[in-house]
Amino acid sequence: MPADPRIRSNGAMTTRSSSRRRQPERPRPPRRLDPEPPVAQVLRGDCLQIMATWPSGCIDHCIVDPPFNIGSGSGRKAKAGLGWAFSSHVTMEEGWDAFTADEFYEFNVRWLSEVSRLVKPNGNILVFGTYHNIYQLGFILQHVLKRRILNSVVWFKPNAQPNITARTLTESTEQIIWAVNETPAKATRWTFNYWHAKEMNGGKQMRNLWEFPVTAKRERSEGKHPSQKPLALIERAVQLASNPGELLLDPFGGAGTLAVAAAKHGRRWLLVESVAEYADIAERRIEAAG
Ligand SMILES: C[S@@+](CC[C@H](N)C(=O)[O-])C[C@H]1O[C@@H](n2cnc3c(N)ncnc32)[C@H](O)[C@@H]1O
Repeated sequence: MPADPRIRSNGAMTTRSSSRRRQPERPRPPRRLDPEPPVAQVLRGDCLQIMATWPSGCIDHCIVDPPFNIGSGSGRKAKAGLGWAFSSHVTMEEGWDAFTADEFYEFNVRWLSEVSRLVKPNGNILVFGTYHNIYQLGFILQHVLKRRILNSVVWFKPNAQPNITARTLTESTEQIIWAVNETPAKATRWTFNYWHAKEMNGGKQMRNLWEFPVTAKRERSEGKHPSQKPLALIERAVQLASNPGELLLDPFGGAGTLAVAAAKHGRRWLLVESVAEYADIAERRIEAAG
């Protein structure tokens, strides 16, 4: 259970009703400590509660795209039309992505601590974010959990949405923190498929600037998720940072991109997703990818 009773572990902090708002499923409390986590499943519920039932060191690597805290109610003045946005400029209020500043920090500490407990020593932890959350996640990894950061990757979106406010630069990047699950003094022999990366990059060393267009419409054929990542981007992360047969976790599974990428490249996978509609999309995508 969350340490602070004011915080709901599923992040559903807003109180205004909206027929378009997606609310997480009510999590069931864990009953026992499972000897091993299940594999190749989209587990439905709150990842904090579900991860707490697994033993330490049972996951090889975690590639995770967590809530960014940009839903309305996230401590800033909520403005219709400026929340989560699809490429078609349709916006939605997402109950799971709206925290106050303190709640968001506590939430980030809690899930990153749990991931760090579950991933084997020297396993990889790749965390996606934008300026809304990436500095905080980096601080927690480096300063609170004392993990070694290996790289900071910038994902450049050449076809990013225009900035309709005309008040700031057009956001066209996301960041990926690549950390190894050890202290800087002890970090060693982490997985980096250097030669594969070079091969993927036409024989040249791969740089930390990755260019991929935003998620294509055809990748949304099983249903729309407001922050679904492009499959090719996640495939690259999977191929660089894990080996065939290893078990990859995404505790914020969304539309299941990590599972599709992992299965395509012979890795095992495990997702948690708290919104039933998104878990359904993920399962359909995984099945369609066969
Ligand atoms: C940024 S999205 C992930 C998108 C995913 N990478 C994809 O490509 O589809 C984050 C997801 O985490 C889910 N989520 C938020 N809080 C959660 C929690 N406490 N436990 C499990 N899932 C949660 C949201 O419903 C959302 O689908």
